[in-house]
Amino acid sequence: MTTPVSSSGFFISFEGGDGAGKSTQIELLAEALRQTGREVVITREPGGSPGGEAIRKLLLEGDANKWSPISEALLMYAARADHLERTIEPALKRGAVVITDRFADSTMAYQGLAGDLGEKAVTTLYQLVVAARGPDLTIILDLPVEEGLKRSGATGDAEQRFESKGAAYQEKVRQAFLEIARREPERCAVVSAKDGIADVAGRIREVIQTRFPQLLSR
Ligand code: TYD
Repeated sequence: MTTPVSSSGFFISFEGGDGAGKSTQIELLAEALRQTGREVVITREPGGSPGGEAIRKLLLEGDANKWSPISEALLMYAARADHLERTIEPALKRGAVVITDRFADSTMAYQGLAGDLGEKAVTTLYQLVVAARGPDLTIILDLPVEEGLKRSGATGDAEQRFESKGAAYQEKVRQAFLEIARREPERCAVVSAKDGIADVAGRIREVIQTRFPQLLSR
């Protein structure tokens, strides 16, 4: 598998349940990639552009049942469309590596497979908004739910609305990400988020070294 990373940019998404340590691992990977001289843009969903961040506030505040599943998915996709147009695509055109903390697999996992919406509606939204503009590589950080909830509780993470949906829902989310990885093994890599930060960072580095070695070379 070879991708021309210098001329067209490279798009990586990180996915996983709450408390898997995505943001720490994204920072470490970005640092390693910057050392090769590349421009790296770190971004997140929901959010990542002024419009996306405005929608993020609507999504993450309030009680667990504030939005119906379809309203929630439409808001996620409204934010995603803006994020793609205003942040991700311009950066990829400049030749940057874009690393996003969550992307479309989160909607498939949280709203589609674990939520009540079902995968058909989410697939329709995906085809309408993302289509061929999806990630080149998706790292799914996998952790038992209890451990993830313990970790995010300990760091006092701001996000409460989705975490308040309970452990059974989080377990469905975990299984949904594993299912997505089984369906798309070429794009997705499941990485265990157990053990220390350096161990997990090493596993992620190995995935990139194996699949896209040109990303880590100067
Ligand atoms: P955030 O504080 O960014 O959490 P985390 O650190 O776990 O990424 O909150 C994002 C929450 O929104 C998270 O619980 C997952 C949820 N989410 C969805 O349900 N669907 C989506 O499409 C996205 C992007 C996020």
